[in-house]
Amino acid sequence: MMAREKRKIIITGGAGFIGSNFVRHWCQNYPEDRVVVLDALTYAGNRLSLKTLEGLPNFRFVQGNICDRPLVSSLLAEEEVDTIAHLAAESHVDRSILGPDAFIQTNVIGTFTLLESFRQHWQSRGKPEGDRFLHVSTDEVYGSLSSSDSAFTETTPYAPNSPYSASKAGSDHLARAYFHTYGLPTIITNCSNNYGPYHYPEKLIPLMCINILLGKPLPVYGDGQNIRDWLYVEDHCQALDLVIHRGQPGETYNIGGNNEAKNLDLVNMLCALMQDLAPELPISPPEKLITFVKDRPGHDRRYAIDASKIKRELGWVPQQTLEKGLRSTIDWYLSNRNWWQPLLSEEYQAYYRSVYQS
Ligand code: NAD
Ligand code: DAU
Repeated sequence: MMAREKRKIIITGGAGFIGSNFVRHWCQNYPEDRVVVLDALTYAGNRLSLKTLEGLPNFRFVQGNICDRPLVSSLLAEEEVDTIAHLAAESHVDRSILGPDAFIQTNVIGTFTLLESFRQHWQSRGKPEGDRFLHVSTDEVYGSLSSSDSAFTETTPYAPNSPYSASKAGSDHLARAYFHTYGLPTIITNCSNNYGPYHYPEKLIPLMCINILLGKPLPVYGDGQNIRDWLYVEDHCQALDLVIHRGQPGETYNIGGNNEAKNLDLVNMLCALMQDLAPELPISPPEKLITFVKDRPGHDRRYAIDASKIKRELGWVPQQTLEKGLRSTIDWYLSNRNWWQPLLSEEYQAYYRSVYQS
C-alpha cells in the first residue's frame, strides 16, 4: 500500500461544535499532519473545546476572522497549506431570524474570502493535484419536505427558507463556481442535524438536556411534529475525513444519519434517557416540563437525507444508533458541567429571552 502523504490543513471554525470534534478526529488519526485552527471565537467558539490538543507539536490555534483577507493569505503562505476544511459559520437558524447581518458576512463574504485567497495560493504553487478545499454545508439549503416526499439527493434543487440557509446556499454556489471556473479542487458536503459532545446550549438537544438538569421548561416549537434527521458528530467527522482523502473535486456529497425523528418524540426520548442516567432530577418525570411555545417563523417541516452516493462511492455509513448516540451525549453533558455552565451567561440569557418570550 502507498504511504499516505502528510497534509498541512487549516480547519476554520475549529473551536465550534463540529469543528472541535473534527480537529480532535484529525489530530488523533493523522498526528504527523500540520493542523492550524482559524477561528474568530464568536459566542459559539470555545478554546476549552480544544484543550486536550493545545501543546501538541503539530497543532496551532490562530484567533482570527475568515473575512480578514491579509490574515488568511499570509497564513496560507506561511503554513504552506494544501487543504482547507471550512467549517466556520454562523450556524443557528433562530439567531439568523433575529439578526441576519453576521450570517451574510461570515457565511457568504467569509467563504468568498477563503476561496479567493486559496485560489491565489493554489495557483502560485502550480495548482498541485492533491490540494483540497472542503466546504462543509447543510441539508437546509434544499428547503422543506412534506411527510411523503422522498429524501434530499445531491440533485435536489436549492430552496433555502431562512437567512441562515440562504447564506449557506450562497456559499455553496461560490464553492461550486470556483471549481467550474478556475478548476479549484473544491468539494461540498451537505449534512443533516448533528448532535454530540461540545454542542453549544442554544441548539435543541443540548438545550433540552441542560433544561432537564436545571428543572426549566422544555420549549417545543409549534406542534412538535417537525422532523429532523440526526447524525452523531463523530460519524460526520469520519465522512468529512473520507471526502478529503477520496472525494472527487467538483462533487457534492450528502451526509445523513438515517435517523428521522419528530421533535416531540426526540424530546420524550431525551426525558426518558435523562431519567435513567441522571440521578435526582429537580423535576421528575421531566416530561412534566414540556411546554409548547410559539413556532419558529418559516419553520421547515421536515429534512431527510439520501446518503446513498457517499455510501456507494466512498463506503461511508453512520456507525452510531440514535439511542446509543444520545446516551453518550447525555453522559458527556453530565460529566462536563464545567464546559457548559459558564456558557449560560447573562448574554446567553438575553438571547434566550428574545427567542422564548417574544
Ligand atoms: P458552531 O456555531 O458550533 O461553530 C461555528 C464556529 O465558527 C465557532 O467556533 C465560531 O467562533 C466560528 N466562527 C464564526 N464566525 C467566524 C468568522 N467570521 N471567522 C472565523 N471563525 C468564525 O457551528 P457548527 O454547528 O459546528 O457548524 C459547523 C459547520 O457545519 C457550519 O458551516 C454549519 O453550517 C455546518 N453544519 C452544521 C450542522 C449542525 O447540525 N450543527 C449540520 C450540517 C452542517
Ligand atoms: O439540518 C442541519 C442544520 O441543523 C444545521 O445546518 C444548523 O447549523 C443546525 O443548527 C441545525 O438546524 P436546526 O434548526 O434543525 O437545529 P435546532 O437544534 O435549532 O432545532 C432542531 C429542531 O428543533 C427544529 O425543528 C427546531 C426545534 N426546536 C429548536 C429549539 C432550539 C424546538 O422545538 N425548540 C427549541 O428550543
